[in-house]
Amino acid sequence: MTIDLNSNLLTLDYLTEQEKIAIDHELQIMETREACSIEALKIVQLQRGWISDDSLHAIAAYLRIPSADLEGVATFYNLIYRQPVGKYVIHICNSISCHLCGYDAVVSAIKNYLAIEYGQTTSDGMFTLLSNACLGACDQAPVMMIDNQLYQSLTPQNVVDILQTLQAADNKGVGR
Ligand code: FES
Repeated sequence: MTIDLNSNLLTLDYLTEQEKIAIDHELQIMETREACSIEALKIVQLQRGWISDDSLHAIAAYLRIPSADLEGVATFYNLIYRQPVGKYVIHICNSISCHLCGYDAVVSAIKNYLAIEYGQTTSDGMFTLLSNACLGACDQAPVMMIDNQLYQSLTPQNVVDILQTLQAADNKGVGR
């Protein structure tokens, strides 16, 4: 295993004490350092919003695993963001049941309302739109997830209502 010494030096300054403590906690309960990868990525993403290259190298060095291995985990796991995202990330299911139950109209409504395409973020930084494999609620298709909350039985109308509710809450300062 090759460990980048520069990354080790970077880690000393890069990760916060809070992040290190949280990762150390995971290291205590996981069987291997590799098994901590996803949790460590989530911990840093929670603080910083996304995983930059510097974050990735710092986490890899802290876990003492190759950056390439951690990159593989980050790329595979679609709830880890490798580029900046909006305050709310919309994960809309694009698997078969949702496709059969109105996905096209729902995703068009989202794109039209927010004026973004897949992978883009609104100019106000509020919403990012991403596609997702099955979210496990096929009997309530079409489905999307925002902030770990599942929204089911979507229509072009109610999906816009949901987005407007989030915007209104944010304007009142009660959004997250
Ligand atoms: S296919 Fe969309 S939730 Fe399963």
